[in-house]
Amino acid sequence: MANTILIGAQWGDEGKGKIIDVLTARADIVVRSQGGNNAGHTVIERGKKYILHLIPSGILRRGKMCVIGNGVVVDPVALVGEIEGLRKLGVKIDKNLLISDCAHLVLPYHRALDEQRELRKGRAKIGTTKRGIGPAYGDKAARTGLRMCDLMQPRLFSKKLQAKIRENNAILRALGAKPINYDEVNDAYLAAGAKLRPFVTNTVVYLHRALQRDKEILFEGAQGTFLDIDHGTYPYVTSSNTTAGGACTGTGVPPHRVDRVMGVMKAYTTRVGEGALPTEDRQVAKRLHELGREFGATTGRARRCGWFDAVATRYAAMINGIDDLAITNLDGLDDVDPIKVCVAYRLNGKRIDVPPSDALQLENCEPIYEEHRGWKKSTERAAKFSHLPPRARAYVKRISELTGARLSMISVGPERAQTIFL
Ligand code: GDP
Ligand code: IMO
Ligand code: MG
Repeated sequence: MANTILIGAQWGDEGKGKIIDVLTARADIVVRSQGGNNAGHTVIERGKKYILHLIPSGILRRGKMCVIGNGVVVDPVALVGEIEGLRKLGVKIDKNLLISDCAHLVLPYHRALDEQRELRKGRAKIGTTKRGIGPAYGDKAARTGLRMCDLMQPRLFSKKLQAKIRENNAILRALGAKPINYDEVNDAYLAAGAKLRPFVTNTVVYLHRALQRDKEILFEGAQGTFLDIDHGTYPYVTSSNTTAGGACTGTGVPPHRVDRVMGVMKAYTTRVGEGALPTEDRQVAKRLHELGREFGATTGRARRCGWFDAVATRYAAMINGIDDLAITNLDGLDDVDPIKVCVAYRLNGKRIDVPPSDALQLENCEPIYEEHRGWKKSTERAAKFSHLPPRARAYVKRISELTGARLSMISVGPERAQTIFL
């Protein structure tokens, strides 16, 4: 397999974890480049469910190296919890995990500020995961963040932490929020740091040496294209570059070492949190929720659902340079008839085929649909493209054509085996 960047082509939760797990079989290294434990990537292996937040989804395959790159924001206490949780489930984690010494830390005041900002926004809230992601990336951009390499130097870390807590407590008090206790945080973070020490290194050097030895890298995107800080539905976005470019800055692997970009998209659309979702449809949501599907892997919130939005995915194909498409959750439409696909938007009486940059304008876009007849048959056992009902084949071909990229994988269930390669 070539060095591949895998990104979400919609609003996150496209099934990236499942596709990464499948593709890891052919890769040597899986690396996360952005986001933090706001991500929730589900992998189901032999009926056992794993939800990965900070650790790359490749961890479930023996003999594969997993790297948390410099662009990720790491809550060390949450990461230790995740490692211990996976170990309890029988996953081996020792020499197969590396953490960048440049990765920024998420601290309790980031989470407290995240919560306060959301509270203060009232109805205009973003609907964040409250994991402190925005404030942590804010500190990074302001050049006031603490990094993994600080945590590896306990005395220096404690000193910096004390100053940061003093500064942030002044803000929290002014907002009427509970201040952070330095001693408690210092103890918890130093204890987590000691547990993480064996994994912390300069991952840029590791990755470059691996490339020299022709090792193949799979870049695991978190969130999705429309949650990108630059290209997403600002301000209803996350605080990192979730699009393909972020994979290079977030790992230190140069662009010319990337061979292809794979976009993962659901056969319909979902979004969790606030912000426009032009094709949102209550009936689609009701049906999927009744099947017990589309509840957030990180926060458990019910995801908003709607029809496939080709205006969005075509834009995603452009920004990310998607070569190959993986369409997931095709089985979610098994008993839906008719099935709608959004091919353009109408805004102020005009037909447009790219999403407007302004949040309010996007909110006012009316989808223009084409209708497809449903296949009304289970696709869950299809192992080959030819096993799919003809209408399901026509549907995936059509949404790939509208997106403008080659269809190379179809997922018809959460298990590894429920994957069709083309
Ligand atoms: P990610 O964040 O992109 O990794 O996606 P999530 O794990 O948050 O959400 C995707 C959900 O869909 C998870 O519950 C997966 O187990 C599930 N899933 C992935 N692919 C398929 C599929 O083809 N069919 C079904 N039924 N479920 C799928
Ligand atoms: P994966 O990797 C879906 C959403 C939140 C909110 C916005 C900002 O599992 O696809 P944040 O906590 O990042 O400041 O929240 O982004 N969000 C996600 N939605 N999947 C995710 O990750 C998400 N990570 C963040 O719901 O709307
Ligand atoms: Mg998810």
